[in-house]
Amino acid sequence: MSTPVPPADIARAAGILLRGGLVAFPTETVYGLGADAASETAVARIFAAKGRPADHPLIVHVAAAADVARWARDIPPVAWELAARFWPGPLTLILRRAPGVHDAVTGGQDTVGLRVPAHPVARELLRAFGGGIAAPSANRFGRVSATTAAHVVAEFGATVDCVLDAGACALGLESTILDLSGSHPRVLRPGGVSRDELGNVLGVAPGFAGEAGPRVPGRLAAHYVPDTPLRLVSDARAIARQYPVPGGLPAAVLSLHQPVMALAGCRWVTMPADPVSYGQQLYARLREVDTWGCGVLLVERPPEGRAWEAVHDRLARAAGSAGRGEGAGP
Ligand code: TXA
Ligand code: MG
Repeated sequence: MSTPVPPADIARAAGILLRGGLVAFPTETVYGLGADAASETAVARIFAAKGRPADHPLIVHVAAAADVARWARDIPPVAWELAARFWPGPLTLILRRAPGVHDAVTGGQDTVGLRVPAHPVARELLRAFGGGIAAPSANRFGRVSATTAAHVVAEFGATVDCVLDAGACALGLESTILDLSGSHPRVLRPGGVSRDELGNVLGVAPGFAGEAGPRVPGRLAAHYVPDTPLRLVSDARAIARQYPVPGGLPAAVLSLHQPVMALAGCRWVTMPADPVSYGQQLYARLREVDTWGCGVLLVERPPEGRAWEAVHDRLARAAGSAGRGEGAGP
């Protein structure tokens, strides 16, 4: 799915990072908005572009597990085991931060998030740049993450100095975040590595952090919000019949099923039945629905189970501002 990027473009992007600029680049999860993690002024530009509060920490992307020692200290042995099994890949480890890591990156916390991404373009960029790249998802604060270069341009326009376009991201949902800084490993955000897979290395599947955990915008109730109000429903076919409400706009539907009949007041999208493909398409579908001018987006709840945890998490947050009630709403 990934399309190659010419080496000259990678070299140009690495030069922009060295001069303190912003480079949007593909990862296997979502596009990142990158800056030199060792430069406070470069990192400040990320916060300005995203409109992100300064106390929300960033993930530092590094080329190889060995580079973690530059950013973290007191690294527990299990971190190396997890790195050997899941890096490069969609797992972010929260570790105690090394001296000299800027508050701008960690949001002033005593910990730092680290990840070795798997996407070939991200890896080439990290090699060419030679340092750590601080990168949040390439979306404005609170908005749906970007899974194509066109999404990044729609979010930021010319604010970003360079966008490396490698097509659509393979996973489409952000990395799993595992906090290793406390007494027990805790998942702060479900993602591309499931809790079962983590459990194979940890001995037991880790639990989720309580709401009193560290500051993670991805855990705010109304993060990942599309423009069209999103309602989670158990049977889209039943609810969709009620649309459009008199004088109202049509409804959009994301369902795992085919529509039973042509529903005049609905635009129906049948989503893939496997969690990986569903996650890969989700953000692009939410952005597409936002161009349709629908009054509501009805999303049928996917199946339960650990393989679906990341999808459920993002859907619940996307519905955060719209409530979860059944029945035709405003
Ligand atoms: O897949 C991903 O993780 C993507 C790609 C670009 O790597 N990045 C991403 O970054 O999703 P962002 O900033 O949108 O989400 C990272 C999350 C944030 O919610 C942030 O608060 C959390 O990671 N985080 C980063 N450092 C942390 C720390 N030291 N302690 C707790 N949470 C942290
Ligand atoms: Mg984000």
